[in-house]
Amino acid sequence: MANFSIVALPGDGVGPEVMAEALRILTAVGERFGHRFDVQKELFGGIAIDTYGTPLRQETLDLSKRAQAVLLAAVGGPKWDDPKAAVRPEQGLLALRKGLGLFANIRPVKVDPHLANSSTIKAQVLDGVDLVVVRELTGGLYFGKPQKRWRSAGGRQAVDTLRYSEVEVRRILQVGFDLARQRRQKLASVDKANILESSRLWREMANEMAQDYPDVELRHVLVDACAMALIRRPVDFDVIVTENMFGDILTDEASILAGSLGMLPSASLGRRRRDRTGLGLYEPIHGSAPDIAGKGVANPIGMILSVAMMLRLSLGLTREAEAVEQAVEVALADGYRTADVAEEGAKVVGTREMGERIASGI
Ligand code: IPM
Ligand code: MN
Repeated sequence: MANFSIVALPGDGVGPEVMAEALRILTAVGERFGHRFDVQKELFGGIAIDTYGTPLRQETLDLSKRAQAVLLAAVGGPKWDDPKAAVRPEQGLLALRKGLGLFANIRPVKVDPHLANSSTIKAQVLDGVDLVVVRELTGGLYFGKPQKRWRSAGGRQAVDTLRYSEVEVRRILQVGFDLARQRRQKLASVDKANILESSRLWREMANEMAQDYPDVELRHVLVDACAMALIRRPVDFDVIVTENMFGDILTDEASILAGSLGMLPSASLGRRRRDRTGLGLYEPIHGSAPDIAGKGVANPIGMILSVAMMLRLSLGLTREAEAVEQAVEVALADGYRTADVAEEGAKVVGTREMGERIASGI
């Protein structure tokens, strides 16, 4: 019996509800395949601000560093949204990503044919969509200094900084090229090189690195054009690699291809071991959805598919990951839907029942 140590951060809003389903899935995987998952739950985000005065305690960060993987649901909410607040839940998330060195955020967008009619986009456009966005996660506007506000004679001013070093750009582009090589050998590098100097560095380096990947077809796409192409002809994309903020925005957009923001998982990874595993942070791309929190209606699938990514990418449990993904497909094929993706005639279920359905298929 293999033992795995996992830190679980349910966070705020719908976070605890979807996390409960993720842990149900993990228990089912443990029983079916004979593994023990030691899960340590920690308060994180807004609830940790209320309890400890900080969204991420040093203890939680240390615990996460020692674990094999971290599962996170969602953070934030109106209670902590005051723009004047000294401390915000999202700071905890950024500190966690940075503190664990997780520079590569992998966001797969695959359209389950059963959900083709749940999207606001025409089913024929969605046919065969299977792409991955590789988003840089610990640089760019999210971390660049200076970031501040001040008053001048002309009024209030503010600055954010989009800074990238060669090291940061190279390592994320490498993740993109390597992933494209394992998939359909198509890499779209997304930037705004007609305006931004950081994008021109990015583009130059992508061209240099392409020499080492003659098998990968590289193209450069400006971020605004990419936003359009993603919904016009999404099948054209295989792997997209881009900087932090562009990746944040494009993946919310891309989630509509999959039917709902609630469907998409993500993995945040740092340096890998030789066997390609390593510490990772796994979270759905959706937020804490305060409007539906506590109602038991949130879609747990993005969270559950994040568990599958964790099994594969941090724990090296490929068969187990496939079992989870298949169980999700079966629940959808059987017609079960949470409200966010429910079309006419669907069997609408809540968070818990969806989790139970999926767990029973493992
Ligand atoms: C995401 C989220 C976060 C981000 C927020 C909550 C800080 O939107 O993971 O996409 O912007 O990275
Ligand atoms: Mn986002």
